[in-house]
Amino acid sequence: MTEYVMADAATPMARDGAIKLHGPDGFEGMRRAGRLAAEILDALVPHVVPGVTTAELDDMIRGMMIAGGAVPATLGYRGYTHSCCISINHVVCHGIPGDRVLKDGDIVNIDVTPLLDGWHGDTSRMYLVGDVPLKARRLVEVTHECLMLGIEQARPGNRMGDVANAIQRHAERHRFGVVRDFCGHGLGRLFHDAPEVVHVGRPGTGPELRPGMFFTIEPMINIGRPDVKLLDDGWTAVTRDRSLSAQFEHSIGITEDGCEIFTLSPKGLHRPPYA
Ligand code: MF3
Ligand code: CO
Ligand code: CO
Repeated sequence: MTEYVMADAATPMARDGAIKLHGPDGFEGMRRAGRLAAEILDALVPHVVPGVTTAELDDMIRGMMIAGGAVPATLGYRGYTHSCCISINHVVCHGIPGDRVLKDGDIVNIDVTPLLDGWHGDTSRMYLVGDVPLKARRLVEVTHECLMLGIEQARPGNRMGDVANAIQRHAERHRFGVVRDFCGHGLGRLFHDAPEVVHVGRPGTGPELRPGMFFTIEPMINIGRPDVKLLDDGWTAVTRDRSLSAQFEHSIGITEDGCEIFTLSPKGLHRPPYA
């Protein structure tokens, strides 16, 4: 049975499986954390070019978070030692920044989560490096459409399965595979909390959406099969068939009549091409 609790300053920060319902202070906290996250993704646009290393992008991201009064939520999270995840081409998620040099034709996901005044703003976008083949650009476009179609279903009275089904139907209509092994998640004062936000499902199933819920939607869509495998570093997830994978992520809050997207791009840089 799904349990819902009103969250206030006295709510324990336990991952006890209950879904927290937040009030105006929570919305204000998430608005600020989400805006910083989105501004960072905006500011990266001119830097995601051939020749830059993913470690250099990670350093920029850490600098922007600290300048914004935040800390990277990923730094020290379950042993992770970087300020973002950068997932290139067939990497599905949790790519570790390092000496990899971006090159012409890469498609790149950058996922950032500043922790600002106790609130987590979690968002990712795709970037196209130089000239990207049409098929890969289509994947990126359809993945963004999947995220936005999921968000359209995020309103009181609907269930998580309605969000999931909108994403799955759109991806599969294009013969793309929806990754099952990773989900969106509740968030707020915690980085990863209940509920689990699946991206595949049947309408009318799963937890009911109620005003005050905060969660991410972050579909990972593959050109090929949905199956992933984890590399030996314990983090990097790749497609088993080595097909390209794309992802976009927003953090949202359920309102009385729909939802508020906390991580919308202030500059309108929602999806590539950003030029
Ligand atoms: N930002 C990722 C998410 O969307 C989580 C990254 S956790 C890390 O949930 F440790 F891999 F960085
Ligand atoms: Co997330
Ligand atoms: Co994320």
